[in-house]
Amino acid sequence: MKNVAVIGSQWGDEGKGKIVDWLSSQADVVVRFQGGHNAGHTLVIDGVTYKLRLLPSGIVRKNKISIIGNGVVVDPWALLDEIEEIKSKGINVGPDNLIIAESANLILPFHREMDEIREDAAGKAKIGTTRRGIGPAYEDKVGRRSIRVMDLVSEKNLDHRLETVLMHHNAIRKGLGKQIYQKDKIKSDLLKIAPKILKFSKPVWKKIDEYKSQKKKILFEGAQGILLDVDHGTYPFVTSSNTVAGAAATGTGCGPNSINYVLGITKAYTTRVGEGPFPTELKDKIGEELGIRGNEFGTVTSRKRRCGWFDGVLVRQTIKISGIDGIALTKLDVLDELDEIKICIAYELEGSQIDYLPAAVDEQLKVKPVYKIFKGWKSPTKGIQKFEQLPDNAKIYIKALEKFIETKISSISTSPERNDTILIEDPFKL
Ligand code: IMP
Repeated sequence: MKNVAVIGSQWGDEGKGKIVDWLSSQADVVVRFQGGHNAGHTLVIDGVTYKLRLLPSGIVRKNKISIIGNGVVVDPWALLDEIEEIKSKGINVGPDNLIIAESANLILPFHREMDEIREDAAGKAKIGTTRRGIGPAYEDKVGRRSIRVMDLVSEKNLDHRLETVLMHHNAIRKGLGKQIYQKDKIKSDLLKIAPKILKFSKPVWKKIDEYKSQKKKILFEGAQGILLDVDHGTYPFVTSSNTVAGAAATGTGCGPNSINYVLGITKAYTTRVGEGPFPTELKDKIGEELGIRGNEFGTVTSRKRRCGWFDGVLVRQTIKISGIDGIALTKLDVLDELDEIKICIAYELEGSQIDYLPAAVDEQLKVKPVYKIFKGWKSPTKGIQKFEQLPDNAKIYIKALEKFIETKISSISTSPERNDTILIEDPFKL
């Protein structure tokens, strides 16, 4: 029996939705452990499209438990809206199939405002956040002044916690010439929705322990990608959580040995939304083409994604950082019409070749990719379900990529359709 963690190995948007959906059909329990409603997963099941942001992918399937772990930041209003939206499509969402960690931290309206105020004031230095309040909410968590789900239980406690957090926020707001945030309004707004949130609240670490004893299969569903990890990503152009597989343990309260297989979702090229270094970015016609063929627009913010060649150096690095056991390669068909395809195999930095991305942002901006060039296959791979049926040049590209990143490619996705997958190894069946 294996529990599987699914993680994005690039800058997010690797096509996790389809793979997570396939794995969640086999899992008993699906768990989100970091991030918030900055994520966006689109699932198409029996012809119905579900857009999930905060709810784990298991929610749309019968007889699955979905868990929002303590590592997630929860905007309670966004969550309630999402629950209503899903319910309107005939899906049951109740305490029998959804659990929220009592120690999960809340995103409140002043977090969203702070995100916007700072992004607007930053000019060229902006991060390009999703403006959902993710960063400010995580700051309050580590600053030990956050409001957590369990704080909604008692008015007295909530009052005290709000006083603490607003003292901090109002000092900054005053400094920025913004209006003071009033405690009473937010308190009464929170108390109104408290029962709707508290009915899902449980000690997640304990529930996961129970499910483990019952030998239930657990799928840990990562959001964003490793290059957006606050420690290991392209800091400061990152999100504010740890997106690596290890966060599945801390973000739920199970030991690292509860995760038996880490599947890295990896696009056959590279994309990024928001600002920050991107060594293999293509600002030419090919980049445009990849964006159009790959429909590269953000699920949450509709922003155009930046596109570039596959960066083998970065993926090899994220595989090592996150302990990835196998790769699910996605969107291969987007490369079908290209004459030639490149893989970045090293960087040049001030006259020397290096085999990793340095941590300093000014160096990350300076590195020049060294490419290995492959002939395109110029024929459709869309819908292929067997490796042998791929064009020879596609096989050569995939094998070269696998060798370079030093990790097995365990599946290849050839279209958004669920069955259009070349399955080499099923992580739940190992
Ligand atoms: P934040 O998470 O909203 O603070 O945004 C920080 C950075 O992470 C920005 O560059 C966002 O574009 C990026 N980001 C956040 N969530 C996602 C995601 O789900 N996919 C891709 N990029 C994301």
